[in-house]
Amino acid sequence: MVVSWLADGEPAARGAASAPAGALSALRQGLRPQRPAVRFAPAGPDSVPLDPVPDDDTAERADATTSTFRDAARRRHHVHHARLGGLRPGTRYRYTIEPAPSEAPATGEFRTAAAPGDPGEAFTFTCFGDHGTDEPDDPYGTAASRAVVGALDRYDPLFHLVIGDLTYASLRQDPARAWADWFRMIAPSARHRPWMPVAGNHESERGMGRFGLTPYQAYFASPPNGAGPDYEGLWYAFTVGRARFVMLFGEDVCYQDHGEVYLYGFSEGRQTAWLERTLREARADGAIDWVIVGVHQVAMSTAAYHNGGDLGLRAAWLPLFDRYQVDLVLCGHEHHYERTHPVRGVVPDSTELTPLPALTTEPAVLSTAPRATARPVVGSLTARPAGAELERIDATTGAVHVTIGTGGSSTPSSEALFDPPAGRVVVEAEKRHGAGRRRTVYRLEAAPWLAARSTEHPYAFAALRVDPGEPGGTTTIRVTVHDSLAPDEPPFDDFMLTRPRPGEAGSA
Ligand SMILES: [Fe+2]
Repeated sequence: MVVSWLADGEPAARGAASAPAGALSALRQGLRPQRPAVRFAPAGPDSVPLDPVPDDDTAERADATTSTFRDAARRRHHVHHARLGGLRPGTRYRYTIEPAPSEAPATGEFRTAAAPGDPGEAFTFTCFGDHGTDEPDDPYGTAASRAVVGALDRYDPLFHLVIGDLTYASLRQDPARAWADWFRMIAPSARHRPWMPVAGNHESERGMGRFGLTPYQAYFASPPNGAGPDYEGLWYAFTVGRARFVMLFGEDVCYQDHGEVYLYGFSEGRQTAWLERTLREARADGAIDWVIVGVHQVAMSTAAYHNGGDLGLRAAWLPLFDRYQVDLVLCGHEHHYERTHPVRGVVPDSTELTPLPALTTEPAVLSTAPRATARPVVGSLTARPAGAELERIDATTGAVHVTIGTGGSSTPSSEALFDPPAGRVVVEAEKRHGAGRRRTVYRLEAAPWLAARSTEHPYAFAALRVDPGEPGGTTTIRVTVHDSLAPDEPPFDDFMLTRPRPGEAGSA
């Protein structure tokens, strides 16, 4: 567990004046500046959650490391990260940041995942991508950006996945301000549960290091991937219970040129080699049932006027997802909700490498009514009738891709879906003379992979309940998808992935 916080704001000046204000005033008083740290202790049954942790020997202390970078205006920014070690499973902890930051809460509480075999081993996590803030001068977010932070907390997730395009900082005049606003906005949730990030195309900032990712890498202290400082934090994996989460940076393999820095191939194969190794090890591990991928960009999309699925992603990573039986792929980038049937392999003779659905059922709602009438578009979701059977999907037949770039972006794509369904695929990024982005070349394809989508709910998040089941039985992930602006309404999508869980011998 890592507790991270922004150092107190600094003036634009350089030199001594740019030392953190707290440290500077301490020096003036002849005191040694207090090193940033976190004190933490198990929360007792009668402890008041947000009271400071007592400064006695019941508490442990974790010193912070500090990541520093200079922005384009030459201002220096510091981000502190304290790694809390020796945590017990299934335990609630309180923590206090010292010295107290002026811009962030100084106290918080979190809980750790249950130990394997414990009755409380089932857990919930939440996800969405494409967020932004509700600040008046942020043209990329909306009121929904803030609403979703409170809405997801109702599900008390163990952690949250935020699947790329977190702040749109790369498009802002003052990217550091955008990040500070975003962290302040998410703090009511993120002080109580990890927000695990995925980097999107808008995370790379012009002039900010070799790949434009120095600020992103400073803001987050994600689990190491071993690829060296240029690449740390851009892809990583972690395990919760019997699920392995694999977070990827799609810019490496996607053809589309839609960031400040064109990053196709930037890791020179490092990420794909790591991915293959990580997936192979996960599938060889008897203690892992579920393999869940997070990647900002999508392999499939029925949006008519947005980013599209990317052939580069299909070519580079979908064969690995097939080979190692990835169960679930969580994406953003398209600003609407849609999900696919389980897919494995490609439609024969498809030059677009159109993923092949394992199921041949029709979309959830099929209407042949004329387009002029008010009706749901093909595959659009309606509330599941009371008493209707829950849709159960055998995850061993392929990977289900869920697109949920519905965190709060001001440009939703839910109104721009092909009907009848078709897929739009980025097949090339054409380099042109002079400056500017490469031109995206698209092709259309049939969309046999489409299972369901929504035109009605542009702002949404998914809550995923992972239930390990019993050895020799069935393990499940129940996915419910909620409108962020109407969190009291029933979920507008609700389905369950199932997978056989090996018996005791296989789970050693
Ligand atoms: Fe994006």
